[in-house]
Amino acid sequence: MKIIFATGNKGKLREAAEILGDGFTLMSPADMGITEDVEETGETLIENSVIKADYIHARTGLDCFADDTGLEVDALGGAPGVHSARYATEGHDFEANIDKLLAELEKHPGEPRTARFRSVVTLIFKGEYHFFEGTLEGVIAMARRGGNGFGYDPVFIPDEYPDNTVAELDDETKNSISHRGKALRAMADWLREYA
Ligand code: IMP
Repeated sequence: MKIIFATGNKGKLREAAEILGDGFTLMSPADMGITEDVEETGETLIENSVIKADYIHARTGLDCFADDTGLEVDALGGAPGVHSARYATEGHDFEANIDKLLAELEKHPGEPRTARFRSVVTLIFKGEYHFFEGTLEGVIAMARRGGNGFGYDPVFIPDEYPDNTVAELDDETKNSISHRGKALRAMADWLREYA
């Protein structure tokens, strides 16, 4: 089954290709000649994932899906949440975002560092919308560790692997527990059953 993942993030594309497996031919917007990013102006994860999926669907008319992910940190009242990509700057700067997160948490000494990634996937299939969600619970590390993954992975310690940050896990292990892994497997199960 041919389907477009509406993302320019190579880390996400690689993850999704592994998660969806052989039954799917995954294409990127760049494969369709679309290189510009859409502005994520929504107030919620679901709104932003719809904006991203709509953008690609309007230009290609093909089945597609998009995810929007937020990191919710309890001591920060759920921030950065829907603003995770632009937490420190407008520029999707992973390093600056992590620096800001660690600095903000220093203002809350002694408080739990519990957090979760939440992903919402919007699938547009035959012109209809379907939604899938996944979460990964964990805690924010005191400092960066590991070189795999992307985004906040170097400072996120998942409950399932309390000795490692996500950036210390291999791709397969991350995908087996991750927020996006859960949401995309739910989407793949739905497509296998109904498509
Ligand atoms: P978006 O879904 O691409 O808008 O992601 C929002 C923010 O969360 C970006 O800064 C991403 O780098 C970060 N993010 C999304 N997914 C992950 C992940 O699996 N691990 C770590 N950070 C992530």
